[in-house]
Amino acid sequence: MTHKIILDTDPGIDDAMAIFFAFQSPDIEVLGLTSVFGNVPVTMAAQNALALCELANIDIPVCKGVGMPWVGPESTYAHFVHGDDGFGNINHPAPKGKIDPRSSAEFIVEMARKHPGEITIVAVGPLGNLALALRLEPELPKLIKAVNIMGGAAFVPGNVTPVAEANIWNDAHAAEIVFAADWELNMFGLDVTYDLPFPPDFTKILAEKNPILGGFVEKSSRFYTEFYSQGKDSEQCYFHDAFPLAYLLDPSLFEMTEGNARISTDALNKGQTIIAPAGTTASPDWTQAMTVNVATKVDHPRLTQFFIDTYAL
Ligand code: RIB
Ligand code: CA
Repeated sequence: MTHKIILDTDPGIDDAMAIFFAFQSPDIEVLGLTSVFGNVPVTMAAQNALALCELANIDIPVCKGVGMPWVGPESTYAHFVHGDDGFGNINHPAPKGKIDPRSSAEFIVEMARKHPGEITIVAVGPLGNLALALRLEPELPKLIKAVNIMGGAAFVPGNVTPVAEANIWNDAHAAEIVFAADWELNMFGLDVTYDLPFPPDFTKILAEKNPILGGFVEKSSRFYTEFYSQGKDSEQCYFHDAFPLAYLLDPSLFEMTEGNARISTDALNKGQTIIAPAGTTASPDWTQAMTVNVATKVDHPRLTQFFIDTYAL
């Protein structure tokens, strides 16, 4: 079956790998890319998303979304992870095309009304566009099939603070709105994405299988790998953003735990995703909260092979 998706993204090197994985998948129809601030400022995220579409020769709408968190000052971004250009400083040429005039949130609402119940939103950056779309169209949860996010850390430490993962930490108030909405939300956090480091040999294989798209991932991830290899005994990096897409195509790759979810927005714990599996608390703060499905395990060899086989198509 073909999955209609909107990919909400802050490219970003692991975003790029995920976007190409989606483009390569015969069972995914990408209706559009909606950019958001996060790894890089939103204007750069939009231009980078457009550049990735042009490299892949895919002509779909690319929209520019929110550039600021719901509450608080402008982000300081993650150029130290993704490079000044968001692509590992590889001087990739600027895109030739134009950004779609609709904002990311407007595009999400328009597509949801056009394809009621058919679209899965795959969100792999901070959640400001989804929060804004919920404000634009309060009925959005009834119009969207599911929301699969890369974000959060349920039962493991965070990567920005001891408790918070970057996408949620970057816009905790937006995440609070998104996690409180009455839709199916599948969360792929550091519990699974940090559990599967990829060595440089993996990106070399992607490049062999797919010289253009895999070649881009290999080249752009050299800077990214340097960051992630600091203090480690071998070179490695993480392709966080492809996990929610892999689940869409083959849920059997993952073990999921259902639980009531709350998002911290206080100063110290900002961005913490606190998940209470069924029966683990009597606190109404959790028992009355929405439930989400959290990925807690992933089949490493099968997922790795799935990425390679899809790039090879
Ligand atoms: O914490 C990892 C997440 O933050 C990934 O989506 C990465 O691209 C950054 O956005
Ligand atoms: Ca991302």
